[in-house]
Amino acid sequence: SDIKKIAILKGDYIGPEIMAAGLAVLEAATAGSTFKYELIDLPFGGDGIDRVGDPLPEKTIQVAKQSDAVLLSAIGGPKWDDATKRPEEGLLGMRSALGLFANIRPTHITAAQIARSPLKQSYVADTDFVIVRELTSGAYFGEPRVLAADFAKDTMYYSTSEITRIMQTGFQLAEKRRQHVTIVDKSNVLATSKLWRQIATEVAKAYPDIYVDYYYVDAMSMAIIAKPTAFDVIITPNLFGDILSDEAAQITGSIGQIPSMSVGQGGPNLYEPIHGSAPDIAGKGIANPMSMIHAVAMMLSESFGEVNLARQITDAVSAAINAQVMTPDMGGHDTTLTVTNYVIQSIQHVREGKQ
Ligand code: NAD
Ligand code: IPM
Ligand code: MN
Repeated sequence: SDIKKIAILKGDYIGPEIMAAGLAVLEAATAGSTFKYELIDLPFGGDGIDRVGDPLPEKTIQVAKQSDAVLLSAIGGPKWDDATKRPEEGLLGMRSALGLFANIRPTHITAAQIARSPLKQSYVADTDFVIVRELTSGAYFGEPRVLAADFAKDTMYYSTSEITRIMQTGFQLAEKRRQHVTIVDKSNVLATSKLWRQIATEVAKAYPDIYVDYYYVDAMSMAIIAKPTAFDVIITPNLFGDILSDEAAQITGSIGQIPSMSVGQGGPNLYEPIHGSAPDIAGKGIANPMSMIHAVAMMLSESFGEVNLARQITDAVSAAINAQVMTPDMGGHDTTLTVTNYVIQSIQHVREGKQ
């Protein structure tokens, strides 16, 4: 039997609410198909602190490593702000332990989403770019990190091998897309960024068919709003990718729709929304489940080759938006549950040939 093992990190605040939505869609979408799976719930993040006193228990790492894919909602929140080890440390530790050095964050505006964008429709139509964010080095992981009484210090570090592998991931992705790579850095100031650009230029020589342009991150934060259709694959360091991807999400109308995929060298990929645990709306039943549902679709397509099942899910999300079945972050009046049920029913109706 070939039963895929999916590690479930159900998360904090809105985490469990949207995870339940994502798993309900997974179940409905795979019903009657040849895709079989088993879910393994693991303590992690704030939930890990509450259940076993650790945001990243050793056993969670071991089981996650042996799974076929990891599905995470979102962790963190004020409840654990003063914890000795915060939930966020668990997340960074998991990315590092699984070697997930590349985080793929798509900004693809669908026909259904265009009217939700805060930007002019003529600007955003056809926006389809991917941020390739380096995920296991840079300012997030550099040592030393010091928080003293009269000063604090972080270290931004990149080795040539760390930069080379993320460049290769990004250039390979561009080969399958529109042959355009944009390198984003702050090489007018930072040493790590000078190395970033130098290695980008070297790696680019192996991809003569790919058009490469270079932006400083400040100018890039403007450009993704001013001309979002001008980009295809954007390769950027950890910290800049974190910031630019939240900004890019807003082009689609709400961060509550955007999934991501973290990849390493051969181990399981991790799929998660790009947003956080949204403590401000937790418990109200109004969290947008679309990011988690899209993460499930991304997992089916990228880890398991179930491209058709994934497309049925993303089409069903578009159907919900077209029918104005949306949570308040997108200007709608629906709930997590009614959006999720609409998506499930839409998948079922399409299968029964009723639409
Ligand atoms: P956030 O992304 O949780 O929320 C930012 C804003 O977006 C809030 O107004 C929130 O209500 C809204 N939002 C986010 N997701 C939404 C959804 N699905 N539906 C509707 N609205 C949504 O960012 P924050 O408030 O800065 O962080 C909250 C906590 O989440 C912090 O502890 C942070 O460290 C953590 N965090 C975790 C992850 C992760 O697990 N990958 C990512 C980012 C932040
Ligand atoms: C994200 C989050 C995390 C990050 C935090 C929670 C550590 O903001 O996944 O984008 O900064 O990477
Ligand atoms: Mn972030």
